[in-house]
Amino acid sequence: MIKRRKFLTTTSAGALGLAASAALPAYGNFSKTSSDLAVLGGQPVRTKSWPVWPVWDKDAEDEILSVLRSGNWYRGQGTKVSEFEQKYADLMGAKRCLATASGTTALLVALHVLGVDAGDEVLVAPYTFIATYNVVLLSKALPVFVDTDQETFTMNPARIEERITERTKAILPVHILGLPADMGRINAIAKKHNLVVIEDACQAWLAEYGGKKCGTLADLGCFSFQNSKHLPAGEGGAVVGNDDNIMDRCFSFHNCGRPYGSVKATSQYPSRGSNRRMQEFQAVILMSQMKRIRRDADLRLENALYLTSKIKDIPGIIPYKLSNGATRSAYHLYPFRYKKEFFDGLPREKFLKALEAEGIPCSGGYGPQYRDGLIEEALNSKGYRRLFSEQRLQQYREQINNLPDNDQLCREAVWFSQRMLLGNKKDMNDIANSIVKIYENRDKLLKNI
Ligand SMILES: Cc1ncc(COP(=O)(O)O)c(C=O)c1O
Repeated sequence: MIKRRKFLTTTSAGALGLAASAALPAYGNFSKTSSDLAVLGGQPVRTKSWPVWPVWDKDAEDEILSVLRSGNWYRGQGTKVSEFEQKYADLMGAKRCLATASGTTALLVALHVLGVDAGDEVLVAPYTFIATYNVVLLSKALPVFVDTDQETFTMNPARIEERITERTKAILPVHILGLPADMGRINAIAKKHNLVVIEDACQAWLAEYGGKKCGTLADLGCFSFQNSKHLPAGEGGAVVGNDDNIMDRCFSFHNCGRPYGSVKATSQYPSRGSNRRMQEFQAVILMSQMKRIRRDADLRLENALYLTSKIKDIPGIIPYKLSNGATRSAYHLYPFRYKKEFFDGLPREKFLKALEAEGIPCSGGYGPQYRDGLIEEALNSKGYRRLFSEQRLQQYREQINNLPDNDQLCREAVWFSQRMLLGNKKDMNDIANSIVKIYENRDKLLKNI
């Protein structure tokens, strides 16, 4: 536990801003004496509910009914999926888009078409949803984790090359929480080592790097339209790309391997493939949701920047930083790091509980899920033991246990959900006030642990 005197001497002025609680600004209506912490029986900062998600638009009703009544529910008979693909490609500034059944299937299509095969290795960001590395395992390849840059929450380009082997085929960075990965450096490393790059942009609609949309910066980009996402349709996904032949091969693969477009010129016969098609109903919902996506994105951005300005000087609260070259985050989640040393050692779980009690929904985010047994199950399977040497698998296990920055991030992250950013400045003040209130009263919380 860091005592105040020690805290004052160890705090770097720039990084942690205000050192003394007396200097902490009081926001909105909160002042230190106004109430006890809600978790200890006091009045919560907030009792009002937060914006709900998803939000449906009336105009989708007629369109859905008309598809229902037509009986053309599958893309082979209808036009809605193709219409959506064109619209989404335009929105992304990409040449082509292929709609898929989900984000997971989009990633599976991309990995297959870009040649990730049994026995290959794929460099993956560990700070991600489980699907990002599950798809590598389903492709019978090894998901090799590259440590995370704690400041940006994304793959650390400086740690990529140490994990490349002669089997490495691809890099799979993730624009996690909507924060763009450092694609400039990642693409340069890929080029040097002749690797393909697939962006997992499943949380990054309208995020930008170098002024271009995330998902259009590499060989292929993949998106999810699952219910919680900024463009939701219950389920759904997309692969986005600029190379016609690659996109034709994606189409073929997702349509049971039937030849399509330029693929037909070289073969009349099916290749390996699967059914990964989107339904017409999904496309109708997506086109309706697209009408609000820019407006919502602008509002999230405005509120996120405002929230950062309000919390950045609270000791122990370190807001995310955009990676070099990133020009816009999508804020699927709003993250910061919680440094318990500055809260006199108050564990993050107690901080989260106290924040929830003040009326602020929050979460600690991803844990090191790849150590939960999923990877071990794959490594022990007959297939993996055939595909990789005992020595490589042993070294791989050691690598999984050597992700210190990601481990620390998993211990320190705090997330707010995107729907909270659809509120107003007063809502953001409630968040900031609650954090200040906990900081100011941390001694009482510590006594009650
Ligand atoms: C980073 C990431 N990758 C992949 C996926 C998989 O997308 P889906 O759930 O649509 O299959 C998700 C979904 O949550 C995700 O967040």
